[in-house]
Amino acid sequence: MAYNLLQGKKGIIFGALDEKSIAWKTAQRCKAEGAELVLSNAPIALRMGTINQLAEEVNAPVIPADVTITADIENLFTKAQEHFGGKIDFVLHSIGMSLNVRKGVHYTENNYDFTHKGLDISALSLHRILQVAMKQDAINEWGSVVALSYIAAQRVFPDYNDMADNKAMLESIARNFGYQYGVKKNVRINTISQSPTRTTAGSGVKGFDGFVDFAEKMSPLGNATADQCADYCVTLFSDLTRMVTMQNLFHDGGFSFTGVTQAIIEQMDK
Ligand SMILES: NC(=O)c1ccc[n+]([C@@H]2O[C@H](COP(=O)([O-])OP(=O)(O)OC[C@H]3O[C@@H](n4cnc5c(N)ncnc54)[C@H](O)[C@@H]3O)[C@@H](O)[C@H]2O)c1
Repeated sequence: MAYNLLQGKKGIIFGALDEKSIAWKTAQRCKAEGAELVLSNAPIALRMGTINQLAEEVNAPVIPADVTITADIENLFTKAQEHFGGKIDFVLHSIGMSLNVRKGVHYTENNYDFTHKGLDISALSLHRILQVAMKQDAINEWGSVVALSYIAAQRVFPDYNDMADNKAMLESIARNFGYQYGVKKNVRINTISQSPTRTTAGSGVKGFDGFVDFAEKMSPLGNATADQCADYCVTLFSDLTRMVTMQNLFHDGGFSFTGVTQAIIEQMDK
């Protein structure tokens, strides 16, 4: 069901790779709520993924940007404003990658070139995007920026590897830039800490299926799906959440505040 929550709003969505991507589902939901969109992803992802299918469906141009390259982001924000004929109301940062995870390098043995690359893509990119947006004064007053995080920023999930450090920094940037952008332009910045979700990035984590099952049993409401995450993003982009900023918001069916569940106890008793 649609509520026209984003009627007249214009947004940039980073990170739709394929139809499993959280960004893909969010683009579909934003469109259904009346938003106009620009889609972006790294040039290599545009070649490997199926973003053009989504672009057609949501009637949005695709503007490539590698988020580790400032000039790419500048070009994206300039072109997006030309396309919209004005400023932007919301941005979704749905981007993450760890070469240490991808190449199976243990946390204690991390290759620092990989670590730097992963940090640049997964965390610093939020700062870079916000810096470009601020310099270009590209976001309307009361605009909203959302980035996706995971609870490994606060608690240890050993196989999440250096992505845990990346997410801790991502959440810190949302807080600190959220302060600056709030004071300057009333722009709000939050992270959503999402349940484990079967996507390309998610499935790269070792033992991911076990991880998903455990979280499902540890969450009173069960795991939140990518579609439900998209719904939550819509609320944060809408005018109904104008005073929410600098927060890390758990969207995890209650996992983050649960000590143990009956389902886990029964599993242990087996
Ligand atoms: N899947 C999960 O279990 C889960 C849980 C919590 C949070 N998240 C977070 O959600 C976000 C989206 O991930 P997803 O699960 O939808 O997976 P996904 O693989 O569909 O999305 C990750 C995206 O990052 C993009 N990306 C990688 N390098 C880039 C670069 N240099 N420039 C621009 N884009 C680049 C990829 O092309 C891809 O589109 C990530 O931040 C991820 O950490 C995922």
